[in-house]
Amino acid sequence: MDIDWILTHLGEERARYFNAVAPPVIQTSIFCFDSVAQMRELEQDEYAQHCYTRGNNPTVEILRKKIAALEGAEDCLMFSSGAAAISAAVVASVSGGDHIVCVNKPYSWTHKLLASLLPRFGVRTAFVDGTDVANIEAALEPATKLIVLESPNSLTFELQDLAAVAQLTKTRGIRTLCDNSYSSPLNQSPIALGIDLVAHSATKYINGHSDVVAGALCGPQTILRDVFRGPFMTFGAAPSPHDAWLILRGLRTLRLRVERSGASALKIAQWLAAHPKVERVWYPHLPSHPQHALALKQMRAPGGLLSFAPRCSDTSAIEKLCDSLRRFLLSVSWGGYESLACPTAAFFPPATPVPADEKPHSAPPHLIRLSIGLEDPDVLIADLEQALARI
Ligand SMILES: Cc1ncc(COP(=O)(O)O)c(C=O)c1O
Repeated sequence: MDIDWILTHLGEERARYFNAVAPPVIQTSIFCFDSVAQMRELEQDEYAQHCYTRGNNPTVEILRKKIAALEGAEDCLMFSSGAAAISAAVVASVSGGDHIVCVNKPYSWTHKLLASLLPRFGVRTAFVDGTDVANIEAALEPATKLIVLESPNSLTFELQDLAAVAQLTKTRGIRTLCDNSYSSPLNQSPIALGIDLVAHSATKYINGHSDVVAGALCGPQTILRDVFRGPFMTFGAAPSPHDAWLILRGLRTLRLRVERSGASALKIAQWLAAHPKVERVWYPHLPSHPQHALALKQMRAPGGLLSFAPRCSDTSAIEKLCDSLRRFLLSVSWGGYESLACPTAAFFPPATPVPADEKPHSAPPHLIRLSIGLEDPDVLIADLEQALARI
């Protein structure tokens, strides 16, 4: 994969727009035709032509080409959020009476779709511990049409062996979907490992500047055309041309940003793991992670997101620590240029006691997730040090 070519040149037809180096924002909702005959012809294939921006738009199209190439996919559809990309992929893959297998602890709105929304339409989902592929295999039924993976997930970073799951589905005609947001297209290539569809919250590393919400779905054209004719056009969650342009600008530095935040996150994870006030660190690229060997096998480099839990008896210590941070903003989401801290304590009542044992389906109340941005990692470590000193 020639990443530099993809990020800088692929999909850009500069001679068509005055040799401008930066592509134009084609800010239009509709495209017009020279004749009724041309109109009839183009209407036949909105997937590949320009007719209406809810379907396709030239600025969005440049982005589609780049993300497809980065993922090693035949094509890509862009959405106005990662949640829309995942929902469209799922809805296009199942009908009433079908069954889905999904890993435990997927992104919260993926869970909501599978656990609350789809059962209303007769689609059941089994949630399983995906750290062992045998659990996924054991959950398969004749009605299973889709396996939903997220490797690793974005809070406690459990992995799935993507090649092994893909192998399971080969003879059974089951589709696989993997949320690859954590790794970005640069650090993991699920399609090369045999996965059918890859989804991204492009809000994260792909855009990288905390100013756009968007999603991507990559895979073979046969499936994506089906997604396009179904949920994509009916739900209408297309990105605006301006957002697509901002993401194109964000992409120029994808490689630098992903390398920098991954290297800094590894350094910070190692420092936290050695700190006497830290009970636990969750990070696939630490040897203490139970699936470290798998992380090294299927991920190219460390990611920029990690979690840790300080030693404490209740979450009041977490509030004190997080309120003392000066270089981390307290916020949800991740993958931007700025460092963020997201404590699970914010989703529990004040002073929630820390349980003695971890619950398999949820994160502990004293977990703090850190999204490592582009700042000097030593500055971030100094900030964590002074905040840990207060508890
Ligand atoms: C792992 C993961 N997948 C999907 C999403 C949904 O993406 P979006 O917020 O762009 O809809 C998120 C959002 O936080 C996420 O963390």
